[in-house]
Amino acid sequence: MKIALGCDHGGIVLKPAIKELLENRNIEIVDFGCYTTDSVDYPDFALKVAEAVSTGSVDKGIILCGTGIGISIAANKVKGIRAAVAHDLFTAEMCKKHNNANIISMGGRVVTPELATEMVKVWLDSEFEGGRHTTRVDKITKIEEKYFK
Ligand code: RB5
Repeated sequence: MKIALGCDHGGIVLKPAIKELLENRNIEIVDFGCYTTDSVDYPDFALKVAEAVSTGSVDKGIILCGTGIGISIAANKVKGIRAAVAHDLFTAEMCKKHNNANIISMGGRVVTPELATEMVKVWLDSEFEGGRHTTRVDKITKIEEKYFK
């Protein structure tokens, strides 16, 4: 498995612990930055991760900003992306089981690195449940097809 990481200065605090978890699981990491706490613009990093997921050059993505919100909004502008902001173990699990989120987004000013790694674990270890959720996710794709030219 290959996972892309992207963050801004507000999310970078979560990155070392998440990288350690992925390395321990022998998951290949593509780290698109940022790499310092200097102020940057989160859409730049959202785009890199979202394009990598959308084109299939990686399997999934993890994005981090101060709240997880801005970077997820930006990532969701890329075709095929279902980036979900998760705040706790329940939302991390549900965004995979019900929404088939291919990117998880978290806030460095919202969750601790310890919680963030637990959230990544549950997201990675959960399976999309399909069934009625496939119908709903397919409807999301239909909206995308209507508006993405
Ligand atoms: C940066 O200060 C902050 O606005 C950003 O990290 C994020 O929280 C935006 O949604």
